[in-house]
Amino acid sequence: MKHNDGMLPSPGKFKSEKSSYSRLRHHFSLAKITFWSLVFVFLIYVSFFRAPSSASQTSHSDPSRRSLRTSSYGDAWEKRVRASAKIRSHNGISVLVTGAAGFVGTHVSAALKRRGDGIVGIDNFNNYYDPNLKRARQALLERAGVYIVEGDINDEKLLRRLFDIVAFTHVMHLAAQAGVRYAMENPSSYVHSNIAGLVSLLEVCKSANPQPAIVWASSSSVYGLNTKVPFSEKDRTDQPASLYAATKKAGEEIAHTYNHIYGLSLTGLRFFTVYGPWGRPDMAYFFFSKDILKGKSIPIFEGPNHGTVARDFTYIDDIVKGCLASLDTAEKSTGSGGKKKGPAQLRVFNLGNTSPVPVSELVSILERLLKVKAKKLVTKMPRNGDVQFTHANISYAQKELHYKPTTDLQTGLKKFVRWYLSYYGNGKKSAQ
Ligand SMILES: NC(=O)c1ccc[n+]([C@@H]2O[C@H](COP(=O)([O-])OP(=O)(O)OC[C@H]3O[C@@H](n4cnc5c(N)ncnc54)[C@H](O)[C@@H]3O)[C@@H](O)[C@H]2O)c1
Repeated sequence: MKHNDGMLPSPGKFKSEKSSYSRLRHHFSLAKITFWSLVFVFLIYVSFFRAPSSASQTSHSDPSRRSLRTSSYGDAWEKRVRASAKIRSHNGISVLVTGAAGFVGTHVSAALKRRGDGIVGIDNFNNYYDPNLKRARQALLERAGVYIVEGDINDEKLLRRLFDIVAFTHVMHLAAQAGVRYAMENPSSYVHSNIAGLVSLLEVCKSANPQPAIVWASSSSVYGLNTKVPFSEKDRTDQPASLYAATKKAGEEIAHTYNHIYGLSLTGLRFFTVYGPWGRPDMAYFFFSKDILKGKSIPIFEGPNHGTVARDFTYIDDIVKGCLASLDTAEKSTGSGGKKKGPAQLRVFNLGNTSPVPVSELVSILERLLKVKAKKLVTKMPRNGDVQFTHANISYAQKELHYKPTTDLQTGLKKFVRWYLSYYGNGKKSAQ
């Protein structure tokens, strides 16, 4: 017994120990509840109110956050979508334009709206280049009656919502991570927008009823290390020189799959160095203009053995005509409810200018138009994904789309420079 007494607490002792233990436990539970409540409140705060540190990173990595916001899109938002999608011409089409706040997207959306088609844009306004320029393009489209929904093409919930509201007949898919050199800095942004984003868009299109016809931007960069010129759609495209090119090539294969399995009508457009007003600040003609005006030196690349670097510069209005002709000649998708009913159209076109111009000549034209002598720094072309030469064979687009570029580089750059000087205040307020 003693033994037991020694070993076992008396019932009373046990009772008193239990009550102090339960007080202690109560105390700790309260502290625990308070702690976890604070953690919970903090997490809610972070997920709802924290400002994105970088628009591009946020929208690239977390479309679900957009989905949360999507659920808060209400009647007023839906009304704006419907109004923007309203067709105002006989035989008009209703088009979802992805990347609508981008350079090509803005011009294509404005042109479609002008002829009375219904347009809804979508863009994530990432900060790959100055988002203020995208906002200015958005304001321009807003005035023309085009609404751009702010969202990521990886947000399938948002895309489905848009298809629920509007029975889009066509999708003009221009949203992408563009630029060749940036791929070495931020490779995942290319996978996010050009591969995952494309698949997410096609998933939604395939199950839409009716399925839309899709016209989308591939790139001349798929010709990669090809040396046979001019580049024809029949040439090999399995030697990309950059990750950007590889993602565009992957896009073409993905397009083939969705056409084959689901009967989606798909037209890929291989654009050749598009330039013009409201252009992209990461492109040579744009930042050359900025740097020439600032008196900064500009790099003029040359290929091996002092070889000329040249581009088939294509003016934006010619590209827009090619895009509209592609939409107008696109046949209907053949599937419905995610099931293919018959073979569907699958096309790829070069949209270029068919007259490559050496970069040194581009600079001479800019010097004349800007009335400033450039400080040129001739350098060997770095191995960062750029190719030495591009030249489009456009006979297929001529035959099928009646595509016929009409703007030479001198004329097109004149329009660009006029816009640049008026937008950036004669160079005083310069591009970022
Ligand atoms: N401009 C050219 O010379 C050229 C040449 C070949 C191909 N392309 C292709 O043409 C298309 C349009 O090019 P651009 O020059 O107008 O480029 P851009 O960068 O001006 O436009 C692309 C737009 O897409 C948006 N975007 C990017 N990722 C997105 C995402 N995940 N979700 C929603 N929006 C997203 C961007 O914010 C941007 O506004 C792109 O697909 C590009 O790869 C352009």
